[in-house]
Amino acid sequence: MTGSETENRIPLKEAQARSGMSIDEKTSKTLKDLGAKTPDAIGELFAEVTSILDNERQTLIAQGAADNRERDQKVKELRDRWLARKGGLVSLIDENWLKKAPKELKPAVGRAFNQLRHHAKCVDTESLLREVRLRDISAHMAVSEAPDTMSAIGEVQPAKQDITLPGYRRLLGSVHPVTKVLREIEEIFLELGFSIESGPEIESVYYNFDALNIPESHPARDDWDTLYVNSETVLRTHTSPVQIHAMEKHGAPLYILCPGKCYRHDNPDSTHATMFHQVEGLAVDTDISFADLKGTLDYFAKKFFGDRIRTNFFPSFYPFTEPSGDLAISCVFCGGEGCRVCKESGWIEVMGCGMVHPEVLLHGGIDPERYSGWAFGLGVERFAMMKYDINDIQLFHQGDVRYLEQF
Ligand code: PHE
Repeated sequence: MTGSETENRIPLKEAQARSGMSIDEKTSKTLKDLGAKTPDAIGELFAEVTSILDNERQTLIAQGAADNRERDQKVKELRDRWLARKGGLVSLIDENWLKKAPKELKPAVGRAFNQLRHHAKCVDTESLLREVRLRDISAHMAVSEAPDTMSAIGEVQPAKQDITLPGYRRLLGSVHPVTKVLREIEEIFLELGFSIESGPEIESVYYNFDALNIPESHPARDDWDTLYVNSETVLRTHTSPVQIHAMEKHGAPLYILCPGKCYRHDNPDSTHATMFHQVEGLAVDTDISFADLKGTLDYFAKKFFGDRIRTNFFPSFYPFTEPSGDLAISCVFCGGEGCRVCKESGWIEVMGCGMVHPEVLLHGGIDPERYSGWAFGLGVERFAMMKYDINDIQLFHQGDVRYLEQF
């Protein structure tokens, strides 16, 4: 049950005492007869109905059933009482309250009725059968498991079970597309000898910005882009702070991949969400050059998107890498010919990267005279959108099973 449903709940006795009328009587009257003339009064009335529905359901669940037959019967009774097309309480409310509501109250009644109809699914047969337990499971098992042996030796014949009845369906989940893509990325880098690192999602301003050479004046530090918990703490805006944590913890050489959630003060649209996932890559060793970065990312892009993909590095700027670049891949939709998605350029930018800035190595406690490194950061949702041709980032986070089960 969600919080709001619980808040709406009025103890059954109190509700009935207040009006002196049972729910069966009330549903046979119109709102006018009941004196419900304002949206508030209607809200109260529907809260009462919901509360009675929940009470009846809870009572049945608490009672349980002695055997399958009793369970089927009780479940059917409660289901029919509320959901029967003819004479069920929900139908009566539709007929007598909603359809007969005065025009000005219709929107409020309609809204409340829809909520109720949705909520009332908790007394449909499938839901109830899942919840109502048999009281004495061991007795039940004895009957259902013993028949063969007992009849074989000519003892008491147990009640016959109808084994042709359909079983209860257990819904299977599926792996979320973000998790799926994340695992694929991890696998590619694990094969290359990288290990997985993680860091806190609630991060200090020092790790999220200062240690990464992002100065006070940088726009990324603005309230506009960042969700501040207080003046020293933020919801991390990228996975790059894990670079510092890992350098401090393990020193060099270091080959790590850091997947995780990031948060930004963005207005949600088809390409922006306040929460999204990134994967950070970091390699620190003696003699690491930009060629290593290019080679590794080209290998990765081909492994992930397929051999036909070409890569291109464009100059860019990040305070924590020098030089910095953006990796673009040949457009996965048009093969590089030019289309609407790649804005006719044939290329799509997929991640930021560069050679780790000496200041950043220093902040991680690593000697920049001796070691050098490269790093990259990519958006997992964006990769999933390209791989599965999804055009709205919001779909990942809405939890719609019809959508998610396609993966
Ligand atoms: N942290 C950068 C971002 O969030 C990406 C990045 C990571 C760029 C590592 C360069 C090196 O946009």
